[in-house]
Amino acid sequence: MSETLHAIEVQVNGRKVSGTVPARLSLVDWLREELRLTGTHVGCEHGICGACSVMLDGEPVRSCLMYAVQANGHRVTTVEGLAQADGSMSVLQDSFCESHGLQCGYCTPGMLIASQALLDSTPDPSEAQIRDAIGGNLCRCTGYQPIVDAVRLAADRMKQK
Ligand code: FES
Ligand code: FES
Repeated sequence: MSETLHAIEVQVNGRKVSGTVPARLSLVDWLREELRLTGTHVGCEHGICGACSVMLDGEPVRSCLMYAVQANGHRVTTVEGLAQADGSMSVLQDSFCESHGLQCGYCTPGMLIASQALLDSTPDPSEAQIRDAIGGNLCRCTGYQPIVDAVRLAADRMKQK
């Protein structure tokens, strides 16, 4: 029996995208496999590692735990959507480079999404608030301190703008 498809319309990184998806297709698989937005990574696939984090209406969510149909009518921001309009890196992305906030880079898209969501709501976060915001994202390489430093650096840079 063929699987029923559902029509969805999602604003992805500021662009309206329409599609037809099976009910059980995860949001991360739709983003990566249909839209080729492969910046969003897949790690554990059960909500633990945070590598698949994207923003849904400005809030970080785990896209491996959501179905694509649940994003219908919502705004999704992936790591590709964090770059500036001319394609150059955002202040936060640049601060990650500057502070050595990444090594292998596997966790980085999720870390950037969690950190950007924090800075959007809390432009001058304390170290405790940064640690809390990235607390659901696992990194096997950095020891976390360089990531915390990167978010702090980005907050300072944004203040000066
Ligand atoms: S892949 Fe989604 S939380 Fe790990
Ligand atoms: S930089 Fe390798 S997992 Fe975080």
